[in-house]
Amino acid sequence: MSQPQEQNSRLYQADGKPRSVGVIGYPIAHSLSPSFQNVAFEYHKLPHRYEKWEVAPADLPNFLEQVRNEGFLGLNLTLPHKQAALSYLDILSDEAAGTGAANTLFFHEGQLAGHNTDIAGFMEALKAENYDPLRQRTMVIGAGGAARAVVYALASAGANEIAIVNRTFEKAADLGEEMALRFPTCNIYGAHLDPAAWPFNRNPRTLVVNATSQAITAPDEVFPIKAVALSGRNREQRTIFFDLFYGKTPFLAMAEAAEAQTLDGLTMLVYQGAHSFELWTGLPAPRELMLEAARTALSAK
Ligand code: ATR
Repeated sequence: MSQPQEQNSRLYQADGKPRSVGVIGYPIAHSLSPSFQNVAFEYHKLPHRYEKWEVAPADLPNFLEQVRNEGFLGLNLTLPHKQAALSYLDILSDEAAGTGAANTLFFHEGQLAGHNTDIAGFMEALKAENYDPLRQRTMVIGAGGAARAVVYALASAGANEIAIVNRTFEKAADLGEEMALRFPTCNIYGAHLDPAAWPFNRNPRTLVVNATSQAITAPDEVFPIKAVALSGRNREQRTIFFDLFYGKTPFLAMAEAAEAQTLDGLTMLVYQGAHSFELWTGLPAPRELMLEAARTALSAK
């Protein structure tokens, strides 16, 4: 436990004002983070207001300078800043270095540090579904920044196999090669979209994650969901289809139609935020309240 004084200077400036905290992105209007982060500050009776700031890519260095000068409590980063911010930080956690992206900034012994709580958020969302990637065969759709975080999380958690499927095969192959070097005990590789070319058809996946940057409106054109869902049908464990987007997306609707288990990205969003909150404040995040607030905010959109 922190001493009260230490806890105080972490949360407040010398003049007693609460340190600033919030999220930056471009655009940022859509962000649900304030809705559930403020519930957590209120729960602990803290006066902080979690803000959202629209910061254009060209203004990122100046904004981070302000974060340093004013001694923010912390900051979340969303698109397009997660990768770009890395070069302005003093230290990186393994997760931030391994994914090349930071979604959470905080101060550690006066140094500006970057961490990626998307990894812990993703893992906690799976745990809530009683899914453990250990020794499992999995599949990730997409090969950009979000996919990189998912592959990193699954490989760190001991998945046996990760097939990366992407519209542009070369990007999947590159990400697969890079991650395979980092995680030599996990079989990670890029795979073609066409199921006929899959080397693993006889080994059903227990988890398929949509980590593309688009809410895909015609999923079967991008990825043959039915083929994968049906391939797992006779096994003890059904395939979980996890979409990083929120709500009942077309991807999840199709998976449901194929009688697969589904999971959307809202719990991951809230859990990554819960980990950020705990890092900043040293206090336990009230996850259930935060989830409820996020659901309410989403349904009001
Ligand atoms: P992010 O950081 O959100 O992952 P990104 O790095 O731009 O964003 O990566 C976007 C990913 O979504 C890529 O894998 C991209 O596929 P390509 O590599 O072929 O571009 C994928 N993606 C984007 N729009 C898509 C679409 N309409 N159909 C299929 N894949 C799509």
